[in-house]
Formats: sequence, C-alpha cells, structure tokens
Amino acid sequence: MTAGRSRHAQAGYELARRLGTTSRLTYGWRDSDRPASLRTHVARYGPAPAAVPGRTGWLIDVVTEAGLTGRGGAGFPSGVKMRSVARQRGPAVVVANGMESEPASDKDEALLSRAPHLVLDGVALAAAAVGADQVHLALPHDKRWLAAALRHAVTERTHARLDPVPIEVHGLPHGYVSSSESAVISWLNGGEAKPTAVPPRPFERGVDRRPTLISNVETFAHIALIARLGPRWFRRAGLPDAPGSMLTTIGGAVTAPGVHEIEAGTTIGELLELGGADRDASAVLIGGYFGTWSRIADAARLPLAKTALKRIDASPGAGVLLVLPAGTCGVIETARVLAWLASQSAGQCGPCMFGLPAIADDFAQLASCRPQGRVLDRLDRRLGVVTGRGACAHPDGTARLARSALYAFAADVHAHATGRPCLQARRARERGSSARVRMLPIPELAGTRSRP
Ligand SMILES: Cc1cc2nc3c(=O)[nH]c(=O)nc-3n(C[C@H](O)[C@H](O)[C@H](O)COP(=O)(O)O)c2cc1C
Ligand code: SF4
Repeated sequence: MTAGRSRHAQAGYELARRLGTTSRLTYGWRDSDRPASLRTHVARYGPAPAAVPGRTGWLIDVVTEAGLTGRGGAGFPSGVKMRSVARQRGPAVVVANGMESEPASDKDEALLSRAPHLVLDGVALAAAAVGADQVHLALPHDKRWLAAALRHAVTERTHARLDPVPIEVHGLPHGYVSSSESAVISWLNGGEAKPTAVPPRPFERGVDRRPTLISNVETFAHIALIARLGPRWFRRAGLPDAPGSMLTTIGGAVTAPGVHEIEAGTTIGELLELGGADRDASAVLIGGYFGTWSRIADAARLPLAKTALKRIDASPGAGVLLVLPAGTCGVIETARVLAWLASQSAGQCGPCMFGLPAIADDFAQLASCRPQGRVLDRLDRRLGVVTGRGACAHPDGTARLARSALYAFAADVHAHATGRPCLQARRARERGSSARVRMLPIPELAGTRSRP
C-alpha cells in the first residue's frame, strides 16, 4: 500500500470510529446550532471524493450495495433510482427535495440548517454519477432564512471551486401535495406546484423534459457519507433489510421532543424511551399524516422499518412518531388532521376533490358525537371509493390515516358513533380537564400552489 493510500485509509478509519452508528448526519450538532461552514464541515468529515462527471459511476454501485433507501417517505431503493436516471440518454438533472411538507416532521430543516454541505456534497456527487449538468434544491418559500443559509453555502463552494455542476436554490409554495415529486418538477418547469399524471416518471422525463433524479435532502446526505466511507460502513448501523441510520422526529407526549438520529429498524418501544414518552399514553401515530395510528402495546416491539411495519399497515414515512397524550381524544385529533388534508387536495381528481372533504365531514360528525345516519357504514364505503383513485398518493395516504384511527380508537369511535362521550372525554372530565386538548400541529392554510 502506498503512503498516500494508507493515510487515506487511516483517515477513513478515524472518521468511521468518530461517527459511530447514530451520530453520522448529526455529528457535531451539539457544538453549534448554526449552519456548519465549509471549513467546519471539512474539519468534521474530511473532503468528499471529487465529483468528476463521467468518473463517478462507481457511486451508483456503492449506494446500491449499501442498500440505502429514500428518506422522503416511500423508501424506494436509491441505487435503483440513480441507475435508471444514468441509463437514459442526454444530460440529466438532479433535484433535492427539502420541502418537508409533513407538518409533524422537522428533520429536513434540522439537517439543512446544521449540515448544509453534507446535503450539497451528496447532490454534487449524485449529479456527477448520473450525468447531470444542473442541480436544483427545492425549499419552502416561507422559510427564507433557510434558503439564505443554503445560498450562502453554495457561494462558499463556488469560491472553493468545489462543484463542477451549478446548484440553484428555489423557494416553492409550501403545501402538502405541492411537495410531491411531480409537483416540484411541474413548478421547476414553470407550471403550478401541482402533481401531474404519471407516466412519464421523473427518471424518464422531468425537469426540462430531461431525465431527473429527485430525492429527499436526507437521502443525499447519506450518499455523501457512503461516498466517503463505503457500503460496509453504512450497513454497520441498522438491519440487513433496513440498513444505515435515519433521522426521526419524535413529538407529542414526550419529554425529549425533536429530531433524533437512530439506527434504522430501532424498535418503536426503544424510540418511545428515547423520546421520554409518557407512560400513560396508549397510542402513537407512525409515519406522519399519511401514516397509521397504532396502540403502543401493538407497535412497541416492531422495528421502525418498512417490511416489519407492513404487518400493521404502517410505514416509517419520513420518520415521524407522535405520541397521543393520555386523555386526548384520537377521534377528535384525527378529524382535525383529515380536515386539513382534505383542504390540501390539488382539486384535479374527482375522488380526491369530493371524497376527502366528505370523509373529513364524516369524521367531524363522529368527533362531535352528533353523527347523521349510519356514519361508520358511510365512512367504510367512502374510504374504499377514494383508495387508489388519485393521480398522486394523497387520497391513499388520507384514507390510511382515517382507517387506522377507526381501528386504533375502536372503543372511542363506537362511543362517539352512538352519541356518547368516549373514554378519553370521561377520563378528562374526572381529572377536571378537557378531552379537546389540541395536539397534532396543523399548518396555517397559506400554501398557494401558484407562482409568486
Ligand atoms: C403528497 C405528497 C407529499 C410529499 N412531500 C414530500 C416532501 O415534503 N419531501 C420529500 O422529500 N418528499 C415528499 N414526497 C415524496 C416525493 O414525492 C418523492 O417520492 C421523494 O422526494 C423522493 O425522495 P427519496 O427517494 O429520497 O425518498 C411527497 C409525496 C406525496 C405524495
Ligand atoms: S389525487 Fe388529489 S392531490 Fe393528487 S393529483 Fe389528484 S387532486 Fe391532486
């Protein structure tokens, strides 16, 4: 081994030891809550391998071997996605999705505002690997300070002549469906931030009708570390079928709310311990507002991983766990979220435009304990009608949340449906408080999808 190579190996070994299994993306976050400068970033992680177009194809192999899956919600294998873009003809485009439209998630903002260069290393390397000559970073337009921090980081890199491909930072309308990949691409193409029909998929025809790799910002940060330390290092954390670390946002009835880096596949029980969940709490929302309510007793032993969670029709989504406080009514909370989700429809598909408000209205009747007619039969029918009927996953995600609430809060649902106060309301009354404690965050209905 040459002296240069052995120095490189030693540096890699040192870095791997420092990062461990749950302080990879979050390494150094305790030192400062400001965005790490380029100098600090390089001091933390060392330089990234050079992003040389045409000579970075190895990255697709190592990302595939690492088993990295997308951290934006669907958990699709990132190596497969990169390869399908690289195989297309003509120069490609890379889009980093930092919209974080999930109201209960804070991880993307935390990552971008602490370690912007980790994400930017990842997009530059991915661009070279798939043959892209342009990178776009999509951020919510209402977080101007975040866009300013990222523009500053891009300028630092330009002065250091780090990236062969230009990186452009954009502020997009901040709504739930306007952050889905086809909506982001539509906006970058000069249209409204609304989902469009597929096919074509982004890898076939995306921005400027070119092959497009669109991934979540956390996914790109993992790519930056896999490029430095390799697939075996990545797999030292997590499970064989859910490797690596991931960012989670733990909220609700917990003593340590916020963003935590965990090994993928950590059990939900361990995560509740990590967040300091209230021991009296009995339900948890897994995966966010397209997610699944579950009784803690049913979910505690399950890993936060796609395959394992299928058993309870759940998925990690963007890594969100929300603990319902004891004494808070899950039916009322779900009704509030469903009303918001219905308001987020892009109004393009009938079942979404008419079905979601009808479902939200049924839930509102349930929540108020004043249902009209056979509300549960009606809901069952409506949930069946909207599922699989939208151009995007909005109706399916909304229906999943509603169905899971009917199951997880079955006893309360039954009480509400028969016009009686549920157990939570009675308990709250005994304590002299209200069961209408509002827990789940609902964003202001600001998000216009149009261009400013
Ligand atoms: C309604 C809806 C909203 C979405 N919002 C986001 C988002 O805010 N951020 C994100 O990265 N992905 C979001 N996605 C998923 C994206 O469409 C896309 O799958 C993701 O950016 C791919 O990245 P990944 O492969 O790294 O997971 C959303 C999808 C849907 C259907
Ligand atoms: S399913 Fe709803 S949100 Fe999705 S494209 Fe159709 S109308 Fe828009």
